Amino acid sequence: MNAPSFLQLMRRHPAAVNIIATGKAPHRTGMTVSAFMSVSAEPPTVVCAINRNAFSYAHMADNQVFSVNTLTVDHIELAKLFAGQAKVSGDERFDPLRWDQFESGSPCLRDAVMSLECRLIQQVDQGTHCLMVGEVISGRYSDLAMPLLYRDGQWVTTTQDLIKTAEQA
Ligand SMILES: Cc1cc2nc3c(=O)[nH]c(=O)nc-3n(C[C@H](O)[C@H](O)[C@H](O)COP(=O)(O)O)c2cc1C
Repeated sequence: MNAPSFLQLMRRHPAAVNIIATGKAPHRTGMTVSAFMSVSAEPPTVVCAINRNAFSYAHMADNQVFSVNTLTVDHIELAKLFAGQAKVSGDERFDPLRWDQFESGSPCLRDAVMSLECRLIQQVDQGTHCLMVGEVISGRYSDLAMPLLYRDGQWVTTTQDLIKTAEQA
């Protein structure tokens, strides 16, 4: 299959939107990432696919720690900012009112759906990207937050409607 056909298919795949971040102020970097998933609970492990040309890639590898911050519907502008769409780079992407830090120093988004503090334990190159495997050290979550999803070039979210319908049936 050629790349355009592949991309056309993958656009249909709905994905949660996250910011992967690393480093301590004033050397923080971060980027918007949808290619993220959990791998195993024992040990608690996650993986994300990072383009090796992205500014954050080398920093994640150097720091050996990173965070995963799952965005809410209120974070669309943040998702664009960390995707490089506002032409703001590096530490300037981090508003001090929105971000604090985990013990390892990795940035933690205060009102995220959930945030994970990860230790980089493996890197696997694949094509243009690198699979960054992280062991989860700690985490936080917010029960009330509505997650931000991306599908077919659109920002969308989840709905409880189908679940309610199933319960009523
Ligand atoms: C919704 C969305 C999802 C993205 N997912 C990924 C991803 O999974 N992996 C990746 O390497 N880049 C992904 N990107 C692109 C990066 O966010 C973008 O290339 C990067 O932040 C810009 O690079 P810079 O930080 O070097 O300026 C995504 C962008 C958007 C808008």
